[in-house]
Order: sequence, then C-alpha cells, then structure tokens
Amino acid sequence: MTKRAKITIIGAGNVGATCAHWAAAKELGDIVLVDIIEGLPQGKALDLFEASPIEGFDANIVGTNDYAATADSDVVIITSGIPRKPGMSRDQLLETNVKIVAEVTAKAAAKSPGAILIVVSNPLDAMVYTAHKVSGFPPQRVMGQAGVLDTARYRAFIAAEIGCSVEDVCAMLLGGHGDDMVPLPRYTTVGGIPVTQLIPPGKLDQIVTRTRNGGAEIVNLLKTGSAYYAPAAASVAMAESIIRDKRRVLPCAAYCDKEYGVGGYFVGVPCVLGKSGVEKIIPIELDEREGQMFATSVQHVKELCAAADKFLPQ
Ligand code: NAI
Ligand code: 2OP
Repeated sequence: MTKRAKITIIGAGNVGATCAHWAAAKELGDIVLVDIIEGLPQGKALDLFEASPIEGFDANIVGTNDYAATADSDVVIITSGIPRKPGMSRDQLLETNVKIVAEVTAKAAAKSPGAILIVVSNPLDAMVYTAHKVSGFPPQRVMGQAGVLDTARYRAFIAAEIGCSVEDVCAMLLGGHGDDMVPLPRYTTVGGIPVTQLIPPGKLDQIVTRTRNGGAEIVNLLKTGSAYYAPAAASVAMAESIIRDKRRVLPCAAYCDKEYGVGGYFVGVPCVLGKSGVEKIIPIELDEREGQMFATSVQHVKELCAAADKFLPQ
C-alpha cells in the first residue's frame, strides 16, 4: 500500500485556501492548512473536507494554528503574507512579508526537515531567497511559483486571440516575478507552430505587455486583494509534478549559480520538477535583446534580495 503524500499549506487566505481546494480535487494527498488567525484554517479545512463526498476525493484535511500537525510533510507551500492593493508594487510588501516568511519557514522546516518548499508570497524572488536562507535546505528543495502563473496568463491571452484551445499553447518565460519578467515569443508555439507565424508583432507585443501587468490588472479589478485562482492552480501544478514525479518542464524560481550566469540567486528559468525538487535547470539560447531583458530582471532580483537581507534575522 502506498502512503499518501502530505502537503502543508501555510496561509489560509485566498491563495492558500484555493491551493487546498485544487490539491484536494486532484487527490494529491493529505492536507494541513496553517494560519495565525484562530478558526480560519480550521473552518476552511472542515468545509473542504465536507465537500469530499460530493466531489469524490479521499484526503485528510485539517486546519491548525500550530505546526505540530505539519510534521513530516513532503511539500510545504508558503502563501502567508500580505497581498498588494491597487497602486502598490509587489516590492512594497517586502518588509512585512520577509518577517512573515522567515518565521513560518523556520517553524515548518523544523517539523519537516525533508520537505520541498514552494514559496508563493510576494515579492516572490526575495521570498524564495528568504525561505532558502532560513531553512538551510539544499537549493534543489526550495523554489518559487511565478513562471507557471505568468506563462498561464500569456497562454490564455494567446489562445483567446487565436481562438484555439489553451491546451495547445506552449510557452516559456524567464526572469523575476515583476514587471520586467521576460516572456519569450521565440519559444512560444501553438500546436507546434511558432506563434510569430500566427499573431502579428504589434498584437504579440500587446499580449506581452498585458502578461507583464497581469497581476496589477486583477488587483485593479478586485480592489481589496490580488489574484488567487490561477496562482493557486500554478502552485498546485508544481506540487503535483513533484509528488507524482511527473518531471514536467515548468518555469520556476530556481537557484541559479553558473546556470544562465546568474551567480547564486533564485530566478525564473525552465526546470524539470520531480520527486527531488528541481532536478534540472534547462539552458536555452537567448538572443541579444532577450539576454538584456533577462539581465535587467536578474539585477532587480539581486536588489530585492539585498533589501530583504536588512530584515532577515542574522
Ligand atoms: P490573503 O491576505 O488572502 O492571505 C494571506 C494569509 O496569510 C492570511 O490568512 C493571513 O492571516 C496569513 N498569515 C499572515 N501572517 C501569517 C503568519 N505569520 N503565519 C501564518 N499565516 C499568516 O493573501 P493572498 O491573496 O492569499 O496572498 C498571499 C501572498 O501571496 C501575498 O503576498 C501575495 O502577494 C502573494 N501572491 C503571489 C503570487 C505569485 O504568483 N507568486 C500570486 C498571488 C499572490
Ligand atoms: C499576481 O501576479 C499578485 O503576484 C501576484 O497576481
């Protein structure tokens, strides 16, 4: 009999609770939902568990304010922290969220020293850096979710423009989770056909710009928080590739040293995700313009990490 995987989700707010929902629907394993607000993770976990006979998934789902129940998790998804409001950048969340992510990482890592960490809290690239520093885990077991969401937005907009299935749009995107992320039309295909043969350059530029501003577009509509359905689906896709050892090629914030010449930071690159975490970083060729955009994005990530260092426990 195979043992069910155990997934801890920290932060039972919009993204965390929706991660629990997608993970349960996919029957990925048993789920522990953690939050500092008393009753919130317990209530949402019970509600979700009560949906299981209707939807037909088998999973233990518990909510807690205490890390004891998280012990020996296989995967820990970190979503705790404040989201942005209209007019705010992700970077303005830094000081508050570094402290939250450092605290929850220390507690979760102590209970699950063999876990793989998927960080979602923003500003994403600096939060993965924080979780790696605080946990002391090997970098292969620490990663951030951004690229799966950003490429999903890009793929959805392309499919809508062409009027084809989203499933047939395959895309790659590099860099940090910021306005300077690097969507790569040269590496985007629709049913195997390069997208540059299907959408004129001006229209494709508009789609790239909309993708870069995809987070802000939702914040401006919601006014009281940020996106959560697609971010949670993206995070669970990463967890699924790890738990089921699917070895999917997904753009993740992964530790790059010599890779892409980054020099020891977590940035978005194409990765093979399997049971050991980031099993491989796939190198791709960049032309001069793409290389410059990537360098700008990496520079921004480095500045954010330097800013995060000021708030990290020494
Ligand atoms: P939310 O406000 O709905 O939920 C955050 C939850 O974290 C709250 O329930 C809060 O009580 C909890 N929390 C705060 N401090 C905590 C602590 N010390 N321990 C445990 N729980 C704690 O926010 P939402 O919408 O779920 O977003 C969460 C984070 O994810 C934000 O920082 C947001 O910017 C980020 N995000 C990142 C995305 C990405 O692609 N990387 C996409 C969407 C959101
Ligand atoms: C997003 O891109 C808030 O980072 C989040 O929707």
